[in-house]
Amino acid sequence: MMVLQLQIIFPFSGSCFLLCFRFLCVMLLVQRFKAQSTTDPSEVVALNTILGRWGKAAAAGKWNISGDPCTGWAIDSKGFEDPDFNPAIKCVCSFVNNTVCHITQLRVYALDVVGKIPEELQNLTYLTFLKLDQNYLTGPLPAFIGNLTALQTLSIGINALSGPLPRELGNLKNLILLGIGTNKFNGSLPSELGNLTNLQQVYMDSCGASGEIPPTLANLKQLTILWASDNNFTGRIPDFIGSWTNLITLRMQGNSFQGPITSNFANLKQLTDLRIGDLLSSGSSLAFISNMTSLSTLVLRNNKISDAIPQDFAKYTSLQMLDLSFNNITGTLPDSLFNLTSLGYLFLGNNSLSGSLPTQKSSSLLNVDLSYNKLAGRFPSWVSQKNLHLNLVANNFVIDDSNSSILPSGLKCLQQDKPCYRGSPIYSSFGIKCGGNRSMEASDGVVYDVDNADLTTASYFVTEGNKWAVSTVGHFADASYFSYIISTSSQFQNTLDTELFQTARLSPSSLRYYGIGLEDGNYNVKLQFAEIIYPDSRTWKSVGRRVFDIYIQGNLQEKDFDIRKEAGGFSDRAVVREYVVPVTNNFLEIHFFWAGKGTCCVPTQGFYGASVSAISASPYDFTSTVSNEPPSGSSKKNHTGLAIGIAAAVASLGLIVIF
Ligand SMILES: *[C@@H]1O[C@H](CO)[C@@H](O)[C@H](O)[C@H]1NC(C)=O
Ligand SMILES: *[C@@H]1O[C@H](CO)[C@@H](O)[C@H](O)[C@H]1NC(C)=O
Ligand SMILES: *[C@@H]1O[C@H](CO)[C@@H](O)[C@H](O)[C@H]1NC(C)=O
Ligand SMILES: *[C@@H]1O[C@H](CO)[C@@H](O)[C@H](O)[C@H]1NC(C)=O
Repeated sequence: MMVLQLQIIFPFSGSCFLLCFRFLCVMLLVQRFKAQSTTDPSEVVALNTILGRWGKAAAAGKWNISGDPCTGWAIDSKGFEDPDFNPAIKCVCSFVNNTVCHITQLRVYALDVVGKIPEELQNLTYLTFLKLDQNYLTGPLPAFIGNLTALQTLSIGINALSGPLPRELGNLKNLILLGIGTNKFNGSLPSELGNLTNLQQVYMDSCGASGEIPPTLANLKQLTILWASDNNFTGRIPDFIGSWTNLITLRMQGNSFQGPITSNFANLKQLTDLRIGDLLSSGSSLAFISNMTSLSTLVLRNNKISDAIPQDFAKYTSLQMLDLSFNNITGTLPDSLFNLTSLGYLFLGNNSLSGSLPTQKSSSLLNVDLSYNKLAGRFPSWVSQKNLHLNLVANNFVIDDSNSSILPSGLKCLQQDKPCYRGSPIYSSFGIKCGGNRSMEASDGVVYDVDNADLTTASYFVTEGNKWAVSTVGHFADASYFSYIISTSSQFQNTLDTELFQTARLSPSSLRYYGIGLEDGNYNVKLQFAEIIYPDSRTWKSVGRRVFDIYIQGNLQEKDFDIRKEAGGFSDRAVVREYVVPVTNNFLEIHFFWAGKGTCCVPTQGFYGASVSAISASPYDFTSTVSNEPPSGSSKKNHTGLAIGIAAAVASLGLIVIF
């Protein structure tokens, strides 16, 4: 073929030379135009000033080659979200005369930029995509943001922005994604947000907003994802949400909404992930879920729902997690629920369920919380399935010598009538080093016991001698890995006992400690905490917030308790709380409860809930008349329990090291 061509071309070599020359000229011309294409000068000034103020620059030699930002990675096929390309821009160069480029995308992601949103940002008028998440941006979200009307994505989550949300946001009519979550804004949502009818995804969890949701938001009919947990939203949970029929994900936990959930939520048939929690008033039923058969996660926790549990769960063939805990749901356990092969996590604790356990259970259902109900009857054979986490604390099971060894020991001391040592107490004080794998005597003279049993989604542990116990339920949602015990080698301020704070038990839902067989009377209960997870520095990781409630003997002692706030804003600083509480019926219960508040996802998804480092109780105003020693002959089993506990704790520590 080549030979043939050459033979044909050769006789016409003169004109070929001309043709080739002209072709080359065109090529050079194109090259020249390409080299001449420059970024709009006002955008260059703006970009250099913005990044200069933030102390950031283009990756050397990769873009901004020879001083023009729209070069290299900014205009070639390099992936915009590639981790090497950060800060990143993308440009669009005019195709008409090929001389002007405009910056259309800007991303400064997780670089711990400290500073304000610079006013030069308003000169990047061609931006369609702006992502500034995970920095430490302070000050307001400026009103000029409303001039960037080409924006389709505006994402500024996990920063420290404050002040009101500007109503000018309502000018961004092309917006498809709005991410403002985990910031320190205040005031209500601007009603102008209702103009953003192209919005598909809104992330505004933990953004600081409050007040009623504006009725104009009814217009956002394209929404597929809404995260709106942990704000101070008030008023009725809006009915119009039921008209957002494209919704796939809806999260509204930890607000101050009034119930009930109205029946038009039943229109949301596309939902795969629904989490509503912490409604302040009752009246919700469960009828509205009956057509939501695509659900894989359904969380309706702590909503004052009074209804009978539906019996027909067979249709929810994708359901992986069901959490209806902390309501007032009645009826018997549905067989169809326990036979769902998709289901891995079932939380039905703290309701009024009655009857007995189903005789069959799908072998893939391995996390089952049925604590605090009215269940009774015999244990079916599945309760001893290997790897099953099953919490049956605080029900009406009758457990005697014939069936006490089927489940981890001590369950009989944690049934509703609390029979262990009832009326014949033998203890008068205890100390617990939460999550600790060796006991220690602290400077207050209290001996803090080991507490390293491997308790996860639905588990309990009762000490040998039935002196104290711990029960935990809950699943760290969306976490790729997690441990229910955390440990650190940090040194702690404001304490003589640093070691006491180097481990803590964490809980994504509910963590209860119990004193058993205590002599009745007033006790001094001492709870010790320190925040370990969030650093104090001006970094995006520091904007995480942990918030939970504390009940003792069923009475609310602390609402929205924030360890770091109590420590004057410092992490790694001890916080001690003491309470005088009565012990009656020889039983003490200390309950750490997550009510949907605090951030969900700093430093990664699944960081939230309660944390406690140490617990102790001792007589407040009486002299004990009991030995405070376990009954004789109970120490042999103790060793086995400890050995298992230590192995489990080692496994947990492995996880923490990865983190
Ligand atoms: C940036 O925009 C502001 C407001 O529109 C304008 O006054 C200023 O001249 C612009 N700066 C540049 C460098 O063009
Ligand atoms: C681009 O390069 C010029 C000249 O070297 C420099 O002044 C400017 O700050 C750089 N801009 C960015 C965004 O790095
Ligand atoms: C729970 O529901 C039952 C039956 O509807 C009712 O009798 C009881 O008072 C409710 N309990 C609470 C705490 O609301
Ligand atoms: C334990 O066995 C007794 C009979 O010895 C029985 O009455 C009770 O229901 C059983 N409890 C469970 C939870 O199986």
